[in-house]
Amino acid sequence: MQATALAYSNIALVKYWGKRDAAYNLPAAGSISATLAPLATTTTVSWRRDHAEDRVVLNGQRSSGRDRARIVTFLDLLREKHGIDWTAEVVTENSFPTAAGLASSASGFAALALAATRAAELDYDLSALSALARRGSGSAARSLHGGFVRLHAGSVDAPEEAVASLIASETHWDLRVLFVLTATGRKKVSSTVGMNQTQKTSPYFDAWIASVNRALPQAEHAILTRDFDALTTIAEASALQMHASAIAASPGVLYWNGTTVDIIHATRAMREDEGIPVFFTIDAGPHVKLFTTASHELAVQRRMAALPGVVETLSARIGGPARVLDSPLGPTPEHPSRRSE
Ligand code: DP6
Repeated sequence: MQATALAYSNIALVKYWGKRDAAYNLPAAGSISATLAPLATTTTVSWRRDHAEDRVVLNGQRSSGRDRARIVTFLDLLREKHGIDWTAEVVTENSFPTAAGLASSASGFAALALAATRAAELDYDLSALSALARRGSGSAARSLHGGFVRLHAGSVDAPEEAVASLIASETHWDLRVLFVLTATGRKKVSSTVGMNQTQKTSPYFDAWIASVNRALPQAEHAILTRDFDALTTIAEASALQMHASAIAASPGVLYWNGTTVDIIHATRAMREDEGIPVFFTIDAGPHVKLFTTASHELAVQRRMAALPGVVETLSARIGGPARVLDSPLGPTPEHPSRRSE
């Protein structure tokens, strides 16, 4: 009744920002992402009879409060669905610095879905796992697959269709992703809260969703044809449109700091003045993630690390699918290369 799973984080190229249904955590539109190695969560789940309540250990520390509550709610889902009356011990480790405020819910709920079902000997295929992970966090539905992934919107009548499918595996395109961190500490407004606020109050929310639906087939085509220039246009527009809709909420949801804006300008300058293939994307926080090619990775990293306000950079490549590990103490996930200037 114990299993360990590893799942990589992912970053959206066409963003998910808004829900069709909160109870099932159905996204208002589809999204497209790249899975990222070596940024991983490793989780061991043990179903037990001898504990009165679920125990959660996050990065070596007994967890309480909101982090634990999200995990217990997720375990309750499985217990209700399958008539399990055991409690669980969940031990989970992130290979990336959680203090930096990087999203860990995507890799976290993907690893938890895989470990918890495997430990209970439940038969879940990839689609079923993706739907289950989505209940924990929308972006987690995309972290079961490796490579380039599309999450489908589904509908309230057919929530089972809101699952991820593979566009192309991790060997399709050797892109590199540089995380440029511009602050320390956890973000102040979670994705869930920020997107709800946007959906409820932003006059641009409907236009945002319409633009996502136009971008999805274009992004998929750009990935399949390895068209970096086309993907640059689509991904930067998706990030800026998502943030524009959030900034227009009432009160405005603004995740950026001054360094975030400086990095946008520096990225565009590298591309437009020097012809370096690089584009940015930004999630619900002040950090910027840059896509580039393997041969330009070092030049981009050096330039960004030299900008005032940049705290640290982390390098990632396109990662593989989530997997079950042999032993709970199993291979320690590789640590991403960190550089502080
Ligand atoms: C900006 O998946 O964290 O990273 O479903 O409420 O848990 P919940 O939201 P979450 O939102 C991710 C938002 C994003 C864009 C993306 O990953 O697509």
